Amino acid sequence: MSRLNNVILDQLFNHTSIRHFQNKALTADQVTTLVEAAQHASTSTFSQQYSIVSVTDPAVKQQLAEITGHHWLVNSGHYFVMVADQYRNLQIAQANNADPYILHTTDKFLASVFDVAVATQTILIAAESMGLGGTIMGSILNDSKRVIELLDLPELTFPLLGLAIGYPADKPEIKPRMPQPAMHFDGSYKLPADFNAQLADYNQTVSDYYGSRSSNGRDESFSHHIVAELGRGHDVRKELLQTIRDQGFLVN
Ligand SMILES: Cc1cc2nc3c(=O)[nH]c(=O)nc-3n(C[C@H](O)[C@H](O)[C@H](O)COP(=O)(O)O)c2cc1C
Repeated sequence: MSRLNNVILDQLFNHTSIRHFQNKALTADQVTTLVEAAQHASTSTFSQQYSIVSVTDPAVKQQLAEITGHHWLVNSGHYFVMVADQYRNLQIAQANNADPYILHTTDKFLASVFDVAVATQTILIAAESMGLGGTIMGSILNDSKRVIELLDLPELTFPLLGLAIGYPADKPEIKPRMPQPAMHFDGSYKLPADFNAQLADYNQTVSDYYGSRSSNGRDESFSHHIVAELGRGHDVRKELLQTIRDQGFLVN
C-alpha cells in the first residue's frame, strides 16, 4: 500500500518543527488569519473551551524564554500561549443562573485540553501553508504558576502550550516516524509479532537521521530517546496537578 498525495498532504508529510527564525514579526493580518484558522477547527461539544493569548511584550517573552529554556522563542515572528478555558463559559453559566459545577470536572478539563491541542496544530498547519513555520511548546508547563501570573489568567483557565511561529531561518530534515504496523492496528490493539525487529530497524533509521542531520546531530536511537525521557525523573513538574486544581479544575 502506498500513500496518496495532494497539496495539503504534501505539506503535512513535509512538516518539521522550526526553531530558528528570521527576525521578522508577523503582520496583524497574518495573526488574525491564524487565529481564525484555529477558530474553524473542531471543538468538543461546540463549547470553544480554549483561548489564545498573543504575547508581544518583550519582557514577558523573555520570561517565557527563561521558563521554557527556549531562548530562540524571542526571535519568533509571533508567540501564542494556548489556554484551556472554562472561565468564559462560567460567565455564561452565571449570567443564566445555571449550575457551573460541570465546568470544574476532569471531563471538562480534558475537553479544554483537546480543544487546545486541535487548535494549536491547526494554527501550525495554517502557518506552514503561509510559508511560515513554528514549534509547539509544552515546556511552558515548567512553571505553570509563573505563566498564570504573567498572563493574568483567571480561575478555570490553564496555560497548556506555547506556540512560536515565524519565518523559518533553516530547513530541518524531516524526522522519521515509526513504521505503521507498530502504531496502527486492525480492530484491536496488537503490537506486531516482529515488533522488536521493527523497532530495531526504526532505531537504526532514527540513529541515521540524528547522525546525518545538518544541525544538532547526535548519536541517538528512538529507544535511547524514550529511555532518556524516562530519566527526567519522578519529580519533574510535580506542582502541575496542584496548579491545575488551584485553577479550579479536576474537582472529580
Ligand atoms: C504537545 C507538544 C509539546 C511540545 N513541546 C515542545 C517543547 O517544549 N520544545 C520543543 O522544542 N519542541 C516541542 N514540541 C515539538 C516536538 O519536539 C516535535 O514535534 C517532535 O520532536 C517531532 O519533530 P517535528 O515536529 O520536527 O517532526 C512539542 C510538540 C508537541 C506536540
